[in-house]
Amino acid sequence: KKERTLAMIKPDAVPKVGNIIQMIYDANLIVTKAKMTKLTWKQAADFYMEHQSKSFFNNLVQFVSSGPVVAMELMGNEAVTTWRKVLGPTDSGVAQKDAANSLRGQFGTDGTKNAGHGSDSLASAARELEFFFPSTTGHGPSNTA
Ligand code: CMP
Repeated sequence: KKERTLAMIKPDAVPKVGNIIQMIYDANLIVTKAKMTKLTWKQAADFYMEHQSKSFFNNLVQFVSSGPVVAMELMGNEAVTTWRKVLGPTDSGVAQKDAANSLRGQFGTDGTKNAGHGSDSLASAARELEFFFPSTTGHGPSNTA
């Protein structure tokens, strides 16, 4: 089934964005929107609000707001699970052992500096795509993809 998902390249992996876009197309996904931006602490906290009670929340928010990120809308068959498979295990140490060719296996460092994010469900994808690519009723060159 054709789906859309939100991919976010985290600050540690932004220099690898070329390799990562190649991995996306190799997985039969296409990039339908893309934006480089730097999140404020508050924007990152909003993005990760489902994790606000977790022990790692502050580290996570601090890290993703520490430099630029690249947000992309990906489209393709089973895009949510396909992109998470490209990412590999959340913990980069595990990824390096069990999925060395995955994005986190190649470019991640640990559980926080783990190179990328992918929506975990269609509902999360809808919310996270709206976060980075808000729908508007206006006209003009923005948001026309
Ligand atoms: P991400 O896929 O962006 O969404 C949730 C994030 O929480 C996850 O990537 C990790 O970066 C982070 N995370 C999950 N578990 C831990 C952990 N035990 N320690 C630090 N960060 C974590």
